Amino acid sequence: MKKIAVLTSGGDAPGMNAAIRAVTRGALARGWEVFGVRNGYAGLLEDRLDPLAARNVGGILQSGGTVLGSARCPEFKEQSGRERALSNLKKRKIDALVVIGGNGSQSGSASLDREGFTVVGVPSTIDNDLYGNDVSIGCDTAINITLEAIDRLRTTASSHHRAFAVETMGRDCGYIGLMAGIAGGAEVIALPEVEITPAQIAERLREAYRRGKTHALAVIAEGAKCGVHELMAYYGAHRKSIGFDLRVTRLGHVVRGGIPSAADRVLATRLGAAAVATLASGARGVLVGIVKGDVITTPLAEITGRTRPADASMLELARVMAI
Ligand code: F6P
Repeated sequence: MKKIAVLTSGGDAPGMNAAIRAVTRGALARGWEVFGVRNGYAGLLEDRLDPLAARNVGGILQSGGTVLGSARCPEFKEQSGRERALSNLKKRKIDALVVIGGNGSQSGSASLDREGFTVVGVPSTIDNDLYGNDVSIGCDTAINITLEAIDRLRTTASSHHRAFAVETMGRDCGYIGLMAGIAGGAEVIALPEVEITPAQIAERLREAYRRGKTHALAVIAEGAKCGVHELMAYYGAHRKSIGFDLRVTRLGHVVRGGIPSAADRVLATRLGAAAVATLASGARGVLVGIVKGDVITTPLAEITGRTRPADASMLELARVMAI
């Protein structure tokens, strides 16, 4: 291995910069050359690669987002797009690529692997929905941002004897909502993994009111079938019988924009270094991940088309704790 390139792709996630730094410095320490690709796969198509030296990745550990830029790139899904990307990589004599990103990005890695190019994936998505990995880079920070919002909302909810519904991101995975809901003592948590109706959510808020609580919090994961709109519509018709007034806060991209937590920086550093070590060992076409505390690799072909759902059995814990 002589020359590698690194890119960040898909939705940005806090800790991506720590991963770029780890890949770059881990590779430079082995005497390799490193190139940073601008704006994800789009940069491969446009041949936007710049050399990365140790100083180029200094002072970025604590920054959210990605200094390389990111993008969702539909052209890369086409054979012609991939051919252009591969020809640019060959022209520059790049031996291998490290892809830092979530599910969509790792499908891209898998397609490069199928075309015979050496690639290693690093799991980075606030959604934490990648198969073959317990915790993705960015999700700890996203949980903490959601939790901070829940804690703040509880203050005003309690003063005004209100219920709040907080919607957090996560696409089709409820991990952020589940963890932040448990940490924030939510009365009810709605996840994409488990069907819950607006009436059932409202009932949990009603029970909280009857038990004499000063406030109630519902955490709604973005992909839940009962979203905040459905809940508001139900509330409109049943407000009187529920007790609490309802206010809704949708956190949206705020969840993604934080300063990476210590846990995300350490995770990104471990996984970035592991990606380089994997390439050095001669392995290819794998995702590096942490399972039960250990760094492991899983073939990209195995993770494609699979996701890792949130552990919905923990909802019962949240329910008991909200009595
Ligand atoms: O995958 C990360 C994520 O933030 C999801 O939680 C969310 O559904 C999606 O990206 C939003 O995508 P975009 O930034 O393209 O609007």
